[in-house]
Amino acid sequence: MDLHAAHPDVLILVGTQTGNSETVADAVADRLADLGFDAHLVDMAEAYPEMLADYRQLIVVMCTWSDGTFPDNGKDFEEALPGVAPDLSRVSFGIIGLGDRDYHPYYQTAAIWLGERLQEYGATEARAMHEIDGTPTPDDVAAALTWTDAIAEAFAQTPAS
Ligand SMILES: Cc1cc2nc3c(=O)[nH]c(=O)nc-3n(C[C@H](O)[C@H](O)[C@H](O)COP(=O)(O)O)c2cc1C
Repeated sequence: MDLHAAHPDVLILVGTQTGNSETVADAVADRLADLGFDAHLVDMAEAYPEMLADYRQLIVVMCTWSDGTFPDNGKDFEEALPGVAPDLSRVSFGIIGLGDRDYHPYYQTAAIWLGERLQEYGATEARAMHEIDGTPTPDDVAAALTWTDAIAEAFAQTPAS
């Protein structure tokens, strides 16, 4: 199915320590492609805050690591973001957070922090954060793709201007 979105480009930002987030992000990218989007998968280590404003649509797939921190590949991005504070008023986003409730009170805290920053810089949360608790099972990946379908529908409603 092609949703004929006015803005087909979607940045998918991936923050991962052991690869689970990358696996989920790959599946999300494939699904977006099936729906007619151009998914641009970028490792957080290669990302810089200014690039967020180059897109109208953003999906972050990231884990929270020890005691609520960003994974190693996202630490530079995390540090740089508040200093740049990009204007994201034209950006719609969603986050798929990977974490584990066993790490309470740090469950998903890095993903939550990033979501708050994106909204602080003017971005609109197109769909509430999708949480994966524990190592993703095939059912978890399927649920993430259902979430992807929903956010893709929301992205497709963004007007052309
Ligand atoms: C050493 C270690 C520390 C972790 N710390 C947290 C944490 O503070 N908060 C959380 O929600 N999940 C935590 N997790 C769970 C991971 O986020 C989860 O395993 C996730 O699937 C890892 O994703 P990744 O493979 O993309 O790195 C931790 C896992 C490990 C092994």
